[in-house]
Amino acid sequence: MSHITIQGGTRLEGTLAVQGAKNSVLPILAASILHPGRTVLRGCPHLSDVEASIRILRHLGCRADWEGEELVIDAGDLSRWDVPDHLMREMRSSVVFLGSILARMGWAELSHPGGCELGPRPIDLHLSVLRQLGADIREEGGCLRCTGQHLEGREITLSMPSVGATENAILAACGAQGETVLLNAAREPEIADLQEFLCGMGCRVKGAGSSTICVQGRQPTRDVCHTVMPDRIVAATYLAAAAAAGGEIELTRVHHSHLSTVTAALHTAGCQIYSGAGRIVLRSEGRLRSIGTVRTAPYPGFPTDAQAVVMAALLRSQGATVFVENIFENRYRHVDELCRMGADIRVADRVAVVTGVPALYGAQVRCTDLRGGAALLVAGLAARGETQIGDIFHIQRGYQDPVGDLRKLGAEIQIS
Ligand code: EPZ
Repeated sequence: MSHITIQGGTRLEGTLAVQGAKNSVLPILAASILHPGRTVLRGCPHLSDVEASIRILRHLGCRADWEGEELVIDAGDLSRWDVPDHLMREMRSSVVFLGSILARMGWAELSHPGGCELGPRPIDLHLSVLRQLGADIREEGGCLRCTGQHLEGREITLSMPSVGATENAILAACGAQGETVLLNAAREPEIADLQEFLCGMGCRVKGAGSSTICVQGRQPTRDVCHTVMPDRIVAATYLAAAAAAGGEIELTRVHHSHLSTVTAALHTAGCQIYSGAGRIVLRSEGRLRSIGTVRTAPYPGFPTDAQAVVMAALLRSQGATVFVENIFENRYRHVDELCRMGADIRVADRVAVVTGVPALYGAQVRCTDLRGGAALLVAGLAARGETQIGDIFHIQRGYQDPVGDLRKLGAEIQIS
């Protein structure tokens, strides 16, 4: 199995363009089947989760091929409405295909996506919004059998601002008769990117980015070309890496407003940060200050996906920082691996207390999940000596070329 080797202690310097956003392109790939024609995606990241979505699209009868750096989908020949277990299990977020398959075909059959490394990943909110639109959904033997040939738009209030449930609701509502109004919708920027894609396809969606989203169903659709928004969590990861290792980096193709809670935290920790015109510059001396309490929350709060990498940046800080993980039940699996490198982290339920240590030491560690794996990259860059990171398939789900990117910034890192 491949692993990543890092010789820590090198300051990071240089400029890097940020890849396209995984959490935007995945729902957009599901949305592409709403139109029985051609979709061209630019800036689509090469990720294992994207390849998993491509396999689902091809299973459904679509063409999905890379043409140079563009991903081209043709959903004209879509003929199936089932996603088999082996494809569902590759990627939990494939549940977002439920809404788009229902909207296009009137039927859908998916195996339950199940949990993941972050804990149980229930889909009750997804099923609730689809049932409120008129879908009949039966759960039999781990399989969801759904009928939705006469979806009716209506006002729906989400009990919590679930990102995936909001996306599924939008996609199903595109196939419903009349208007759907979603209240208490998630406000993540990836949903605004999905809205922009859908409007480019001819759908009528508005309000994304706010808590109220309106969809006019059954609009004629057309071929669409869309550029995927930059990945704010990948940007946060590289900023955390420079904060931890010290140096000065510039990120381009990034929307500062999408990660302002992260840059605010790194600024409090002692980094100098300049942003504007699609770029962010961070300068760090490497020795950071503790930053009090970090509470993860739905957007625009501090993103749960940045918790692990910011924690890794603070492992050598002066003082103690308290993290409160309010989104997922089990999102501290990276802690044990960081402690193998000399970190001092105490966890009790959803709270982790990070007390800064004078130094981290290279060690053999393993990725536990996508962002936990990214945290090991950050810690390895700041550690003395060599760190070997195993199970890097977790990282490859969301980072297109982390080794190449960090080498561009001067890191002593390689994959083998
Ligand atoms: C999306 O997951 C992202 N994934 C996650 O990113 C991200 O952490 C999360 O949103 C929160 O921002 C993609 O976009 C592909 P939720 P999602 O529905 O949609 C509970 C990464 O690292 N819940 O907002 O699954 C759920 O258990 C990944 O890139 C229910 O209880 O997140 C969780 O505790 C990890 N019932 C909370 O809500 C439901 O029906 C937030 O989940 C749905 C969710």
